[in-house]
Amino acid sequence: MNLQKLEETARALLADGKGLLAMDESTGTANKRFAPLGVPQTEDARRAYRDLIVTTPELGQNISGAILYDETVRQKTNDGRPFVEAIIQAGIIPGIKVDAGAKEMAAHPGEKITEGLDGLRERLAEYAGLGLRFAKWRAVITIGDGIPSDGCIAANADALARYAALCQEAGLVPIVEPEVLMEGSHTLEQCAEVTERTLNIAFDVLVRRRVALEGMILKPNMILPGLDCPVQNPAEEVANATVSCFLRTVPAAVPGIAFLSGGQPSELAAERLNAMNVRFKGRMPWALTFSFSRAIQQPALEIWAGRDENIPAAQAALLHRAQCSRAARLGEYHPDMETSTDPATPGEQR
Ligand code: 13P
Repeated sequence: MNLQKLEETARALLADGKGLLAMDESTGTANKRFAPLGVPQTEDARRAYRDLIVTTPELGQNISGAILYDETVRQKTNDGRPFVEAIIQAGIIPGIKVDAGAKEMAAHPGEKITEGLDGLRERLAEYAGLGLRFAKWRAVITIGDGIPSDGCIAANADALARYAALCQEAGLVPIVEPEVLMEGSHTLEQCAEVTERTLNIAFDVLVRRRVALEGMILKPNMILPGLDCPVQNPAEEVANATVSCFLRTVPAAVPGIAFLSGGQPSELAAERLNAMNVRFKGRMPWALTFSFSRAIQQPALEIWAGRDENIPAAQAALLHRAQCSRAARLGEYHPDMETSTDPATPGEQR
């Protein structure tokens, strides 16, 4: 394992106040997001949409790395460039989702285990050869009646650690994503308890499976009340609960934490990340940034809706969300950015 190379990649992914863009929706998920907008659920529509994303002017000033899906790395942009090449030319580091999805876990009703370890060493070698420099694996933890079980958390932690070790062997930085889902009526406190338990076990197993913490990035959920919880806590309480949890569970050797958005509205995701970076400035041993999919993409996808004539407006919306996310990472986000028309402000709509 070349730890120096891994550390360099991780540092580059966390540099300049930038964050990551997840554009690694599986075919099923991409189709699910296209369907309500009337976008055809075809390979070429997915290609056209991802072309819109990677050709967005100035995206690389806000986004350090983009997580792709296997289909995309085998496709070309409208002007005939392989997507990996177009992303590198945009000043963005290309990465790839390598898990095969979360499946029902046997003997654990209501819980999931992520698959994809079989043949992973060979797939990672191919991806490294294609120029990809980091990878992602998502585990899903559900809060509900009597769940998550220790068995589900342990099995997912073990898969995450085996995936991470294989990535590092192949020279790819693993993005380790144990996602505690927002679905449910649980409280913020319950989410905190489950997330803390999940991260404690995940790091215990990562260390035992000899994953170099310096050469990985954690991609967690924020600590939030469930979508159906009657109490929806303000950003300050979310920030305190989230960073306090990480200070107890995430070793200082880990260079960065990059949040998933999990279906939060874009503005709330930015406001909460901003609150964390403001309130805990100078007190966190790791960079605290974003690795959003929906919180960056959703407004742009809705504007595009499959129509070529909407591409410039969709790209402006995508850039705006990337700028707001970067501002939140820097602790410089303000809700005024959502409405500002002043071309000098970072939230400018172009
Ligand atoms: P969301 O930001 O939409 O949660 O997606 C992030 C991601 O990569 C999920 O695996």
